[in-house]
Amino acid sequence: MELILTKNFNLPESYTLQVYEKTGGYAALKKALGMKPEQVTEEVKGSGLRGRGGAGFPAGMKWSFVPKNTGKPVYLCVNADEGEPGTFKDRAILEKDPHRMIEGSLIAAYAIGAKTAYVYIRGEFDLPTRRLNAAVQEAYSKGYAGRNILGSGYDCDVFVHRGAGAYICGEETALLNSLEGNRGYPRIKPPFPAIEGLFKCPTVVNNVETLAAVPYIIEHGAAGYKKIGTEKSPGTKLFSVSGPVMHPGVYEVEMGYPMRKFLHEDVGWMRPGKVLKAVIPGGSSMPVLTAQEVEEVNLDYESIASKGSLLGSGGMIVLDEDTCMVWALENLAHFYSHESCGQCSPCREGTGWSYKILKRMVHGESKKEDIELLLDIGQKMAGKTICVLADSLSMPIASYIGKFRGEFEAHVKGNCSQCQKSR
Ligand SMILES: Cc1cc2nc3c(=O)[nH]c(=O)nc-3n(C[C@H](O)[C@H](O)[C@H](O)COP(=O)(O)O)c2cc1C
Ligand code: SF4
Repeated sequence: MELILTKNFNLPESYTLQVYEKTGGYAALKKALGMKPEQVTEEVKGSGLRGRGGAGFPAGMKWSFVPKNTGKPVYLCVNADEGEPGTFKDRAILEKDPHRMIEGSLIAAYAIGAKTAYVYIRGEFDLPTRRLNAAVQEAYSKGYAGRNILGSGYDCDVFVHRGAGAYICGEETALLNSLEGNRGYPRIKPPFPAIEGLFKCPTVVNNVETLAAVPYIIEHGAAGYKKIGTEKSPGTKLFSVSGPVMHPGVYEVEMGYPMRKFLHEDVGWMRPGKVLKAVIPGGSSMPVLTAQEVEEVNLDYESIASKGSLLGSGGMIVLDEDTCMVWALENLAHFYSHESCGQCSPCREGTGWSYKILKRMVHGESKKEDIELLLDIGQKMAGKTICVLADSLSMPIASYIGKFRGEFEAHVKGNCSQCQKSR
């Protein structure tokens, strides 16, 4: 398989402009600047590239929503916040090949008519921020960013803005509020950012990985990109694999690749003595897949959805037979209740209540009714809030209890075999 996003990862000093240029870097920007902005958008639309930040929204379509000639500035915001537990693929791009994302961002900015691009980077990312800042400076020094880019007459500035440790600021409208210097509260949509985003101006927010795929699309055309992957999920996807496996790490996979083959042949399967129990395929908020489902599913949007889960951000968390699913869910509930911004009652209260119930369940202090109560709270949180953080806990609640109910019942009775083994 031809690598698109990770092809330079193993080259020495892969993060420098010198290496990026040697491997054909910034040729796509040059090509794009010779096209009309609408042609660039059409190419990305035709490629079928879907947003890699989690929701999978078609990138070119999002760009085409930006209204023309409003008299207002247009902005591009790159979402490099990457706070979803289990997800660490954007970090790899920023550390190992930041120019690919910068080039993709400049192409996107040109397509939507933006003269300013902001990269909102996770506050905890130290090395990635240093590498990104150095790469932005290099891009300016060679005329790829700033005034009159490559003699085209097009200007675009790139600014790097560091977050301050709030998971919610990865949600695109909270990100915009945070960039404006306000509290990171998600906004009610509509209006969507493409119409009213940063400083109330048309704005496109795209994920790092989404933008890093753009140079390839411009270079090889929509048809070239569509040759890779499946019809409905074209291209490649990064998966960050964690858990008790032989080779955890970041992998680039052609969409449609069988999950079983991936875990066996690429990741090297489980560590000695470990037995696969379940996989969370797309970041901690996604419904879990059982070991049996792992055998049957392919790594693309449609196949994973057919098993009731979502590809999400590609943060693949592998769980073994020693993992207690009640403990795992308590861990998630702790995270989401802590990160809830508190604007919506169902989320603020629901995530907190779920955490309290799960905490007492883990400690063998719960009642039989607590299982139904948890399901009820989860159901009442879903789809009723400003952003989908509430769903990020309600989906795991429904799937963990749905697929591993016996473990929740064992906890209520105080005889969970996993917990007894690990204590
Ligand atoms: C609570 C929450 C956290 C999110 N965190 C991130 C994040 O860290 N990075 C990201 O790219 N998208 C994140 N998203 C999704 C963004 O809101 C948005 O959909 C994405 O940046 C759009 O880019 P894409 O279309 O290229 O995927 C988050 C969404 C929610 C609800
Ligand atoms: S769902 Fe939760 S995190 Fe999202 S806006 Fe409402 S309270 Fe805040």
